[in-house]
Amino acid sequence: MPFNYHSKIEGTYYPPGDKSISHRALILASHAIGESKISNLLEGEDVINTLKAMRSFGVKINKISDKYIIFGIPPGGLFQPKKTIYFGNSGTSIRLISGLIASNNITVTLTGDKSLSKRPMKRVTEHLSMIGAIIKLRKNTYPPIKIKGSGNAIPLTFNIIIPSAQIKSAIMLSALNTNGTVKIKEFKSTRDHTENMLQSMGYNIKVKENFKYRYIEMKNDKELKTINYKIPGDPSSAAFFITAACLKPGSKLIVKNILLNKTRIGFINTLKSMGGNIKLIKKKKTHNELIADLKVEQLNFLKSTTLKSSDVPLQIDEIPILSVAASFANGLTIFKGLRELTVKESNRLLLINENLKKIGVKSIIKKYDLYIYGNNYLKEGGATIRHDDDHRILMSFYIANMICKKNNLIKDKSCVKTSYPTFFKDISQLTN
Ligand code: S3P
Repeated sequence: MPFNYHSKIEGTYYPPGDKSISHRALILASHAIGESKISNLLEGEDVINTLKAMRSFGVKINKISDKYIIFGIPPGGLFQPKKTIYFGNSGTSIRLISGLIASNNITVTLTGDKSLSKRPMKRVTEHLSMIGAIIKLRKNTYPPIKIKGSGNAIPLTFNIIIPSAQIKSAIMLSALNTNGTVKIKEFKSTRDHTENMLQSMGYNIKVKENFKYRYIEMKNDKELKTINYKIPGDPSSAAFFITAACLKPGSKLIVKNILLNKTRIGFINTLKSMGGNIKLIKKKKTHNELIADLKVEQLNFLKSTTLKSSDVPLQIDEIPILSVAASFANGLTIFKGLRELTVKESNRLLLINENLKKIGVKSIIKKYDLYIYGNNYLKEGGATIRHDDDHRILMSFYIANMICKKNNLIKDKSCVKTSYPTFFKDISQLTN
């Protein structure tokens, strides 16, 4: 069936494995002595780049039927890779693995594709230099990153000012091979999967939270235990379908086995504040992560909302699809404080605004705030979408075909493979 304004979302949906947890499971299991088993690993290019990097450090990773079997090596035991490591489009891989290398006695060059080569790395490496790693960046900012790790990293206290789970996790991974106590303060909460997985693997980590900051303390005096992990469904991938089901009349969706970690479901709260009908059917906890089944049903048209900048880190990857929802919600929606969106796989703030306008929606950027004037009339559409090979922009504006009179043209859809290789297959299974 063609996917257009006649389409609605219906059926039972199993989102693909969570990307953030997939990266972390590969990296942490690589440091547990013995055999870890991971199933439902996201087989997107970003995660596969992490997997290849871990292999290049001497970690044995095999796939047997649908499980990845990992034989870990001790923290600090990374082998010197023979070549430069290529990370493709993956900011998470290059930043997290920079942290790992920083406290190992190896020297590595890390590169990426055109988009990754334009993304800021100093936000991570400035912390890693302080522990004793010697690091060079292109123009003192961008990849390639050349790191000479310190086999004798200094335990420090870090204050993380930019809200970024990638910065936090890079420091945490460097702490795995740092003697002494590493302390981290983050002033806005970001996704906490590294903390959760380390706790679940028996590591000595304490996490406390007060109204001013989150505090993490790590001591490497306990070995990481092996892990047997079935990765839960990715809320950031499911967001395309959950949002579509909230906004399109006649939609009814059951979402199975989705990760419901509170640092990841800001978009669900935003959709609910817009009148979206999302109900919890079942929940359970595994490896310190909440996993659930949901029911989503379009009963009413959405209404506008205002998002505070402090809530943005909890839905940082979902702003593109929420912008599509806002365009079909009655009234003015304001997303505040979107500066971080300008340094993602593309300048997402700019591309959201440009594409909304192209499909016939009034939208304005004021400094780093985005104003979207929505209503529940079909948009003109018929535009050529500019996605700059950014997977989440592409998927968001593909979903926008559901609310446009004429379908939009999207050239070269191959970039979905970075985070969601089965996106188009899932669409065809869930649309009438
Ligand atoms: C991620 C953290 C986020 C997010 C990215 C995945 C992670 O980046 O945008 O897609 O797995 O840690 P920042 O933490 O830099 O905002």
